[in-house]
Amino acid sequence: MDAMTPPDREAPAEAPIEALLRRRWSPRSFQDRPVPDAALASLLEAARWAPSCFNAQPWHLIVARRERETEAHAALAACLSGNNRRWAPQAPVLMLAVARTTFPQDGSPNRHAGYDTGAAMAQMAAQAVVLGLQIHQMGGFDPHRAREAFAIPDGFEPYAAIAIGYPGPADALPEDLRAREQAPRQRRAVADFAFFGGWRA
Ligand SMILES: Cc1cc2nc3c(=O)[nH]c(=O)nc-3n(C[C@H](O)[C@H](O)[C@H](O)COP(=O)(O)O)c2cc1C
Repeated sequence: MDAMTPPDREAPAEAPIEALLRRRWSPRSFQDRPVPDAALASLLEAARWAPSCFNAQPWHLIVARRERETEAHAALAACLSGNNRRWAPQAPVLMLAVARTTFPQDGSPNRHAGYDTGAAMAQMAAQAVVLGLQIHQMGGFDPHRAREAFAIPDGFEPYAAIAIGYPGPADALPEDLRAREQAPRQRRAVADFAFFGGWRA
């Protein structure tokens, strides 16, 4: 495994989990190095094999490589908001994850579309680690602007923008972003979300 994860970004897991899960994280600094076609194909294939409600596979991805889909890369970067605009455009690949909100079989609403699209992205995130890449998902983008820029039709909902690449050095970032890049990784305790035998508020 060629996971370029600095030791301080490895999750301090309290029960044993696979290395690729410990080493997945969301960097803001990316190397100026393209993602090879074969690696990109593997990322998309990993997303493809995600489980989904009725196997409807509601995920759709707009893929923009800076060197090949240059206009789309710039258009996606322009949809980002806040701090995301400061770091994500440096990533060699940007994607937009879009969910089909109805079942193709009968057109009825698919209330699991977002859930399933997230599952596909989780699979992509794990595959990225195996390839030495990382993905950084972003809710901070303007969905209306994205819909317009990419002519996304009704019945499809943009859920997340995603920056993908080989993680770079934290000191390439402005100071405030660098501090976030190096902040200790934190999670709620398992006991706060896993309730054995019934709900515990
Ligand atoms: C749906 C979603 C939206 C997110 N939105 C943003 C965002 O707009 N900007 C950002 O810097 N990180 C964003 N993140 C990344 C999270 O902040 C990050 O996953 C979380 O802090 C845990 O850090 P880790 O992924 O390194 O474990 C988002 C992640 C997800 C899954």
